[in-house]
Amino acid sequence: MPLEKKIRELQEKRDKVLLGGGEQAIEKQKALGKRTARERIMALLDHNTFSEYDLFVEHDARDFDMDKKSLPSDGVVIGTGTIYGAPIAVYAQDFTVAGGSLGLMHSRKITKIMDHALKMKIPLIGINDSGGARIQEGVNSLAGYGEIFFRNTISSGVIPQISVILGPCAGGAVYSPALTDFVFVVDNISKMFITGPEVIKTVLGEEISMEDLGGARVHSEITGNAHFFAATEEECFEQIKRLITFIPWNNSRKARSFEPGEPDPQYNIDKIVPDNPTLPYDVRDVIRAIIDRSDFFEIMEHYAKNMVIGFGRMGGRTTGFVANQPLEMAGVLDVDSSDKAARFIRYCDSFNIPIISLVDLPGYLPGVDQEHAGVIRHGAKVLYAYSEATVPKLTVILRKAYGGGYIAMGSRHLRADFVFAWPTAEIAVMGPEGAANIIFRKEIMSSDDPDGMRKQKVEEYKAKFANPYVAASRGYIDAVIVPGETRRLLLHGIEISENKDVVMPNKKHGLPPF
Ligand code: HXC
Repeated sequence: MPLEKKIRELQEKRDKVLLGGGEQAIEKQKALGKRTARERIMALLDHNTFSEYDLFVEHDARDFDMDKKSLPSDGVVIGTGTIYGAPIAVYAQDFTVAGGSLGLMHSRKITKIMDHALKMKIPLIGINDSGGARIQEGVNSLAGYGEIFFRNTISSGVIPQISVILGPCAGGAVYSPALTDFVFVVDNISKMFITGPEVIKTVLGEEISMEDLGGARVHSEITGNAHFFAATEEECFEQIKRLITFIPWNNSRKARSFEPGEPDPQYNIDKIVPDNPTLPYDVRDVIRAIIDRSDFFEIMEHYAKNMVIGFGRMGGRTTGFVANQPLEMAGVLDVDSSDKAARFIRYCDSFNIPIISLVDLPGYLPGVDQEHAGVIRHGAKVLYAYSEATVPKLTVILRKAYGGGYIAMGSRHLRADFVFAWPTAEIAVMGPEGAANIIFRKEIMSSDDPDGMRKQKVEEYKAKFANPYVAASRGYIDAVIVPGETRRLLLHGIEISENKDVVMPNKKHGLPPF
């Protein structure tokens, strides 16, 4: 056969497969505000950089009349390309083909691209849009998931792994995203759950919509499974691209450096924290007053808002920020905020990203609910993550640093490299009111004027401990600084920590309080 004819034949074969599940299924997909798998990949990657592999892979299932069915590309598209020039491995499930369900060959395509990503040491992005295990393929589907979960785990901390939920992600399918670093969801499109509404109705007799069970808002605000929430697929892709600019390709590299730039002067660092220590403020304004161009990329914005985490750049270098948020519950550490902070600290540590901690909190949250929800176990994660992290760690105490909160939030004792405190810092075992009530109880109770005596004792306690100077006199903090000096000192600290080298005791791995 002449070459021209062979090329035409190839083109025809390609065109047929590229139609996925056919026009009707594509129309149904579009009516839901969703793009097709290949359109999504094109929208995400740099123009004309996508190379697709395994286009002609087909399933070989026989049961339930499967031998009579063709499933183009077996319902998943895999390949490589770039985002802003960074190499990327990607897969996208094609819901138009058997609901993007995962059979044996489908899973082999995913594990093939995962193996490539790990071997080439490049980030992996998985776009999920699937009805879960392909029911007709039985245990082969389950085996496929197991192979994916194993690779997610082995790749964890070596290459960045990003999951994008753009449709259903049902049953066992949810555990791959849960094992990856960042999960992106889109309003009204993402649905993540272990057992769907029908099963819940049958087993428990409860009625709930897919949206209320595991929609994008549920996972962004309540469960903490999602790290980024977007209104549309387009916005979601912009978020992913932005994230890629902040992280390195793998754990043996650093993130790309950008041209440094001064913070926007609208964020006046001297004016953000109110004089009255009981008034709240938005700690993100302090971050914006410190970082290059005030360009802060917040992560998990809608979950455990009493803790702020995210990336900014200091002198052009990616830096992770962990900050108590006085706007929400006075910035207290609780079960969810501990979880949020600890995981992010470990992320930064895995990928050579220095950590700046901004401290203003009354401590760990008291109460039966928190105790029973495991605030001891979850709170310990923060201690563990900071202690274990060997990347440069810089801490600024802005205002309150009480009790366990002082120790947990990147203190010297957990091996912060630099600890600074503003003159407004209050470093003590607990808040002045609580402390005075306990240690001066006898004096207060026996006084003719208990309220007056309490006030006097609170003031005495404040004068003695609610300041940064006791900690400074012990060397627990390195310098008491005026707010305007913060950026300069942090920039300097990061710069001279460039070659920080810490040797940890030899071990297989530790036992973090998971
Ligand atoms: C095979 C599937 C499928 C599946 C969907 N399809 N899910 N085929 N296995 N798991 C097929 C449908 O039969 C249909 O085929 C096409 O995909 C589109 O599905 P629809 O139901 O028409 O779409 P929609 O109404 O949008 O509903 C989507 C859905 C629903 C909510 C995802 O399909 C659904 O509930 N599927 C099952 C979800 C589920 O329970 N998965 C868990 C499997 S067990 P046709 O030919 O009609 O177009 C599991 C355990 C793994 O995952 C454990 C690993 C550790």
